[in-house]
Amino acid sequence: STQIFHDVAPLRKYRKDLLLNKRTVGLVPTMGALHNGHLSLIRQAAAENTDVFVTVYVNPTQFGLNEDLASYPKTWEADMQMLGVLDQELASAGKGRVTAVFAPSTKTMYPILPPDSSIPGKGSFVEMRPLGQLLEGASRPVFFRGVATVCLKLFNICTPDRVYFGQKDIQQTVVIRRLVKDFHLDTEVRICPTAREKDGLALSSRNVYLGTRRRNVGIVLNQSLRKAEAQYKAGKRSRGDILWPANDHADKTLFEQDALLSSERARFEVDYISLADPDTMEEIEEVDATRGAILSGAVKM
Ligand code: PAJ
Repeated sequence: STQIFHDVAPLRKYRKDLLLNKRTVGLVPTMGALHNGHLSLIRQAAAENTDVFVTVYVNPTQFGLNEDLASYPKTWEADMQMLGVLDQELASAGKGRVTAVFAPSTKTMYPILPPDSSIPGKGSFVEMRPLGQLLEGASRPVFFRGVATVCLKLFNICTPDRVYFGQKDIQQTVVIRRLVKDFHLDTEVRICPTAREKDGLALSSRNVYLGTRRRNVGIVLNQSLRKAEAQYKAGKRSRGDILWPANDHADKTLFEQDALLSSERARFEVDYISLADPDTMEEIEEVDATRGAILSGAVKM
């Protein structure tokens, strides 16, 4: 059965015992409010390790001052319920088990920061330049510094053999690969496919914020990226050829949705549609088919 840890020392002891018994640990970091996307990561981890550690921690340092730290969904009871059901499924399938949940307090994770602080004044942080400033990092300047910092801490606490991240947050996966490489962390980074609703909307803890109208705008992203992907699959390699149908579709749909709005304030706009280098997230003009490229996008609402 799953043990819940709130402190570092007992978790470390537990992890060392696993190591002595030659068991392997797959780590799935989360901010809770679990959904099937998170569960698909845990299933993957359980297929490749004897033990899965799930961390549940809403990391304040990755939230900007005007972001949703205070209102981020907290569903601890339901999360533990879901993990229990999933662990039973893993048990009967003879897979690895969810043996530890780590749910630390902010006092534990950031001993010298006030509990709700995303202000970087004090303490130690990991920064990646320019990677952390690009794309998502352009509209959320502290985001990737917070993610890299908390993940370094979690990796050091759990010393996982493998870590599992979702492709949905693709720039985050690039940051994590960079972290592991640059700091010589002894773990393998595993990236898992995006779990989606039937209409293409990626599952996300934050989807509970979306009403029908914004939900309809949300699916435009997946539709646009599919159009760009289709261009690539049809043999196109230049930025213009790959991106134009995506931009065209996003612009047209957002324009239509905008026209339905009554308020001038609530405009929809494309933040970015990017075709980028898979290691640096810098924009590229031409895809080198052996290196590949990352297509990603964001819409502001
Ligand atoms: P969170 O948003 O809870 O996501 C935890 C993990 O689940 C991330 O690796 C994310 O990419 C993955 N995930 C989310 N939705 C998914 C989906 N629809 N399909 C597949 N995977 C999905 O990402 C974070 O938390 C935080 O930044 C964290 C890494 C925990 C650091 O605080």
